[in-house]
Amino acid sequence: MDDIKNKLWAIGGGKGGVGKSIVTLMVGASLARLGNKVILVDADLGGSNLHTLVGIRYPKYTLADFINKKVEAIEDVIMSTPIENMSIICGADDILGMANPKYTQKTRLLNHLKRLDADFMLLDLGAGTSFTTMDFFLYAPNKIVVLTPQITSIQNAYGFIKASLFRHLNDTFSKESGPLELIKRACSPVNGEPIDSIAKLYDEFKVLGEEQQENLMNCINALNIKLIINMVKDTKERNVCKIVKSVAKNYLGLTIEDLGIIQFDNILNSSINNMADFFTKRRDSMASINCYDIATTIIKNCQKITTQPSVFAAPKIPA
Ligand SMILES: Nc1ncnc2c1ncn2[C@@H]1O[C@H](COP(=O)(O)OP(=O)(O)OP(=O)(O)O)[C@@H](O)[C@H]1O
Ligand SMILES: [Mg+2]
Repeated sequence: MDDIKNKLWAIGGGKGGVGKSIVTLMVGASLARLGNKVILVDADLGGSNLHTLVGIRYPKYTLADFINKKVEAIEDVIMSTPIENMSIICGADDILGMANPKYTQKTRLLNHLKRLDADFMLLDLGAGTSFTTMDFFLYAPNKIVVLTPQITSIQNAYGFIKASLFRHLNDTFSKESGPLELIKRACSPVNGEPIDSIAKLYDEFKVLGEEQQENLMNCINALNIKLIINMVKDTKERNVCKIVKSVAKNYLGLTIEDLGIIQFDNILNSSINNMADFFTKRRDSMASINCYDIATTIIKNCQKITTQPSVFAAPKIPA
């Protein structure tokens, strides 16, 4: 499974504490258990704690060593974890000013990451919508947004998805003033602004010609976002996914996939200090079972991507 399209997954979600790191770890461990070589990357530069969850107290090497060129190859900062088949690249501490690496540093990092020998690489992103977080999220061909059923988390997840879409549009049309002007208006519609959805932006693009309309649609369709609802407590909360999907479709023209739910799990919550132990000994816990199911779905998804390119067929922008 060498294909970068299958390999690289970014896990983001706007809000802090929704379980991005837990999902990275648990889904990563499930993929490893299913026989895949997995590398977790703590891309929460400035607020890294993924290593703590796998039981590494003081990482010997971190991304900072690579970013500051203390080591030449990214392979030099990979550390093993107690989980077979799964290793980790620990995050950098903000004391070193790593939260906002320079463009060239980010590009070098991403170029080295993509060449790593792994079946899956999972990037654990920080909270918020900083440029660095957005860049990592947009770079990964597979994007997961984690949210909980809480209203604030739903709002932040939507905000995160919207911010990533508009950054993606801005990047794509960065050298074209006509499209950029329209994108800017759609991004923050002020009082009475008629372009208040992607469908209307698409209509406005008509004046720029059919080719630009098609470029806009291709750009939107290229954003391959999937949702995981974490800390689900009852059946009603499972429907949160439908709400986010429908709002994203109606206002942003995005077709978002549902990757699954993870139930609120008391055993997990009280095992945070020893997640590796939890993972090996509590495979029967609800969260472990849910994450295993999600890993299975991811693998099926990758097989589909490899064998049926038609899954990328362009969904229509809503009328
Ligand atoms: N399914 C779950 N069941 C019970 N508790 C959970 C679950 N998922 C996460 N938690 C709890 O939520 C806490 C926060 O999780 P986590 O650190 O993964 O969030 P995060 O989104 O990565 O936060 P940050 O943005 O600060 O990096 C965990 O320490 C754990 O106590
Ligand atoms: Mg985290």
